[in-house]
Amino acid sequence: MNTKIEQLQNKIAEAKVGGGQKRIDRHHSKGKLTARERIDYLLDEGSFEEVGILVTHRTTDFGMENQKFYGDGVVTGYGTVNGRLVYVFAQDFTVFGGSLSETHAEKICKIMDLAVKIGAPLIGLNDSGGARIQEGVRSLGGYADIFHRNVQASGVIPQISGIMGPCAGGAVYSPAMTDFTIMVENTSYMFVTGPSVVKTVTNEEVTSEELGGASAHSTKSGVTHLTSENDVQCLEDIKTLLSYMPQNNQETTQKLPFELGTEIREELNSIVPDNANKPYDMRAVIDGITDSNSFFEIHKDYADNIVVGFARLAGRSIGIVANQPMSLAGCLDVNSSKKAARFTRFCDCFNIPLLVLVDVPGFLPGTDQEWNAIITNGAKLLYALSEATVPRISVITRKAYGGAYDVMNSKHIGADMNFAWPSAEIAVMGAKGASEIIFKKEIAEADDHEAKLAEKEAEYADKFANPYRAAERGFVDEVILPEQTRRKLIKAFAMLEGKKVEQPKRKHGNIPL
Ligand code: HXC
Repeated sequence: MNTKIEQLQNKIAEAKVGGGQKRIDRHHSKGKLTARERIDYLLDEGSFEEVGILVTHRTTDFGMENQKFYGDGVVTGYGTVNGRLVYVFAQDFTVFGGSLSETHAEKICKIMDLAVKIGAPLIGLNDSGGARIQEGVRSLGGYADIFHRNVQASGVIPQISGIMGPCAGGAVYSPAMTDFTIMVENTSYMFVTGPSVVKTVTNEEVTSEELGGASAHSTKSGVTHLTSENDVQCLEDIKTLLSYMPQNNQETTQKLPFELGTEIREELNSIVPDNANKPYDMRAVIDGITDSNSFFEIHKDYADNIVVGFARLAGRSIGIVANQPMSLAGCLDVNSSKKAARFTRFCDCFNIPLLVLVDVPGFLPGTDQEWNAIITNGAKLLYALSEATVPRISVITRKAYGGAYDVMNSKHIGADMNFAWPSAEIAVMGAKGASEIIFKKEIAEADDHEAKLAEKEAEYADKFANPYRAAERGFVDEVILPEQTRRKLIKAFAMLEGKKVEQPKRKHGNIPL
């Protein structure tokens, strides 16, 4: 064989074993796949084309000139997921712990630039000890080059981060600026400063898992949108997530074939209890409306008084934002407002229509909420929904009280279609609270205070705790039977498909961050 061909083959073979078999074995023993195995699993068989396999670092300090590995700790390239082009990088922990050198960063930047130029999603599989310690500031600069590109790509192409090992220090900020973060349980963690620094500064004793594991970030901080049991599940979750998104902000999502039948769902009629104070699971409403098994929930374990996620309606991808009466009676609070605002903005960036299901008694009261800026944070959701130009439809299933009525995609903030169920109660506040305030004198003067309060409460409820006042004013377009909801929504979203909104010229709005 031609020696030059043999030379190339040897180089490629060497590149493919990364940091060597011993390190691969150690990596496998932790239950982790290697970077190449992850890419192979993620992409359609045989579709991966690697870019930059022969790149090596340029460091000469600390004897590094004698320690070079082809690829320099990251595998980069492109391929397809279910036939759709994606760009991918996977950090290789077997090479210098997947740490990020100047050249490692250059490889990632190269495919980020391609992804933006061509208009296809970017998927980053992170597994790294952070900045390559031997390189100092060049490595920090490499991170910043990536961060800057994350921002330039934001809202142009979908960006998804799988966290499949360590992700510490400033390195966490690249995933944080992508659209979705998915952490693998027990083998990944994210933190700005690790347990030893925490101990020194605050004297807290905490493990890596407690401080920044998948559980902490899916329940306490909300940093991760999803958690997956293992590497394979994480890659499956990335594929599922991608299936709801378009390739870029100029495209709409794929529409699966669908023929309209009766679409009547009688089970929806019996979900809302007669007693307005009894909870029910909004997920049952979502399941009753959407195509079967199509709901993919985001941030499931974080701020569970609001439910957000993707689903399909007649084969079309939609985003859902729904109050959850099972948790805090569905009140809006700081975390649920942030969660829903972020999701809303993603859908709006990428032309995914929004369905808002409303059962909200108001904002959660209390010093904790006020001092943690429920004003600013609630405004995020109000702002995000108000500015969204994708087709927007609301269904009020029960309560729509006070400011929360306005916030939850009311007609007044630009919703295209507003439906209400007969159980809807649209009012400034609940009948009891309202009566106690406006009939205070009458109740105080009555012989039987309680009977008077009950009488006034019934009077108020009769007037306002229904959807008809709002329907008379046109704030609700139609009061529908729950069983008709799916059909109505399919038709309304189809009608809204060509929606176009002219925006005033401006650099960007100033969402209350
Ligand atoms: C160079 C590194 C490295 C790094 C790990 N390695 N991190 N090499 N730079 N940052 C190398 C190790 O020397 C080792 O090489 C191999 O990778 C595997 O590391 P181990 O320690 O043996 O693995 P493990 O026990 O699993 O521990 C993983 C780890 C630990 C927890 C990530 O390696 C670690 O703490 N590394 C340093 C983390 C860190 O402080 N990074 C800088 C963060 S600051 P051999 O040859 O023995 O296999 C930062 C700033 C970013 O990232 C700023 C952006 C703005």
